[in-house]
Amino acid sequence: MVAILPAAGIGSRMQADCPKQYLTIGQQTIIEYAIHALLSHAAVRQVIVALNPNDNIFSQLAVAQDPRVSVVIGGAERSDSVLAGLELARTLQADWVLVHDAARPCLSYGDLDKLIQSVLQVKQGGILAMPVRDTMKRAVVDNTAIAHTVERNGLWHALTPQMFPLELLFECMIRAQQDGAVVTDEASALEHCGFHPLLVSGRSDNIKVTRPEDLALATFYLTHQ
Ligand code: CTP
Ligand code: MG
Repeated sequence: MVAILPAAGIGSRMQADCPKQYLTIGQQTIIEYAIHALLSHAAVRQVIVALNPNDNIFSQLAVAQDPRVSVVIGGAERSDSVLAGLELARTLQADWVLVHDAARPCLSYGDLDKLIQSVLQVKQGGILAMPVRDTMKRAVVDNTAIAHTVERNGLWHALTPQMFPLELLFECMIRAQQDGAVVTDEASALEHCGFHPLLVSGRSDNIKVTRPEDLALATFYLTHQ
């Protein structure tokens, strides 16, 4: 199988001097942790990284020389970047595809293996996800006060990687795009087409580095794994 790593974002919420995937934790950048985590699994033969057209950092990283790493130019939205990766993946005749955020450096081998083994058993794909722990509130229309508490039982946080049969994901993403559906992760494209991807319970340290305070947390997790 192949993996696609959308890495074309600029990390505006991080407010750093470079896109957040290029921030260094210890000896490596965040994107290198993500790539190495994927390549650590024997089932993953290629990682396709979708880069911003203005990117001039990735090619300087040691990982860019790895023959198992390819690059494509991403697009304006995350889903455009994933589609660009899928187009290359199709030429590699892969059966399954994993999609993983470049900004998630703490993916464990155990979670990746659990996802792969679970999803290989089903046809509709699946995602790493985590049950919601906090009490959830629905706000009134102007978002200033509580309307009511939402039943927490059955609510999950979507994580990555997400894993699908390659052609099924490609077809669903094209259809979702044509229909103008909101696709914030790959599973939403499948849902739009009537599929119900598997939920595979993952670890809470698989965070997406989004805001400055996430960097300290990712550093802690990476040095205590
Ligand atoms: N991404 C992408 N192409 C885009 C937008 C995002 O490949 N057009 C990638 C990001 O590089 C990141 C992942 O999708 O690895 C998750 O997106 P997010 O956390 O939102 O990253 P950014 O868009 O870079 O951050 P921000 O929204 O704060 O600008
Ligand atoms: Mg974004």
